[in-house]
Amino acid sequence: MIEPPDYPGKYIRHNARMAAAGVRVRLGGHPKLRKQARAAMKALGGGLGYAALIEPQWIETTQVNIGIRDFPSSINGYKIAHLTDMHYNIAAGKNFLQRVVKKTNALDADMVALTGDFIGSDPRKLDRCMAVLSDLRAPDGCWVVRGNHDHHTTVEHMRAACREAGFHFIENTHVIMKPTRRHNHRHPFVERDDEASFAIAGVGDLWEGDCRPGLALQGLEDGKTPVVMLSHNPHVLDLLLPHQRVDLVLSGHTHGGQVRPLGRHFRILCDGSTKYVSGIVENNETRVYISRGVGTSAFRLRWNCRPEIALIQLHRAGGTSTASSTDGFSG
Ligand SMILES: [Fe+2]
Repeated sequence: MIEPPDYPGKYIRHNARMAAAGVRVRLGGHPKLRKQARAAMKALGGGLGYAALIEPQWIETTQVNIGIRDFPSSINGYKIAHLTDMHYNIAAGKNFLQRVVKKTNALDADMVALTGDFIGSDPRKLDRCMAVLSDLRAPDGCWVVRGNHDHHTTVEHMRAACREAGFHFIENTHVIMKPTRRHNHRHPFVERDDEASFAIAGVGDLWEGDCRPGLALQGLEDGKTPVVMLSHNPHVLDLLLPHQRVDLVLSGHTHGGQVRPLGRHFRILCDGSTKYVSGIVENNETRVYISRGVGTSAFRLRWNCRPEIALIQLHRAGGTSTASSTDGFSG
């Protein structure tokens, strides 16, 4: 047995040389170094345990206020619950998703937006995921677009799964939403307005070459109708032309970076982008809200980037559209 030197500067080099020579090395020759090494190992183990077992299950609900030009005042305060990137798997399976559904239903939203990546790579998980999500409740229904991972199965499978769950699949099309509840959260007894409406548009996934905003917005060229667009990939913002009115895009895809030590993110989990990571990104009249998503992919870890249910509230704005800061609350 050869004792390593007591000098910290030579410690690592010495151990590496001994290990390379096939000599058995006793770790931590110096008591102080040994103590520091043990503390570092404990911290690393604890951090990994937290990132693997605790934070991915620790759901946060985020409130977002979006001011939209000419939004009908009789539906001021319209609420959309936004879920994305479920990635149904063992870690984020039935029990976890049931908690997500329960929390989402408790928000009493007018509609639910589901912006893709229901599965990882196993197409058989789609039906299991949809079976749990089918318990989502909202008067104006649940609206679906696909993410890149959902292309591990066919579009026919997705359509059938949506039909079974009672969801609306709106890839590269739009519908005019006539809200069921005519309310104004500031003035609850506002006069009923049967003309109150806005468009909900959906686009396919950008990575899969299915993102066609022109097709989704066909018929809305006059720019008079407020538009909320569902797009798995937030980069759709770069595809919108100046004459295409889109007030708000709801997106996911990045998982917020998923692992963000000291507030930074690994770009590999952010689609290589530093612009589109999480929260609100603005460009002229269009706002994109990028949710951190519900599940995980690649590594089943989250650090400083909790799973998110976003509650988006739409308000009437005077001149131009606006977006306010977000307030998260735990759940
Ligand atoms: Fe995803």
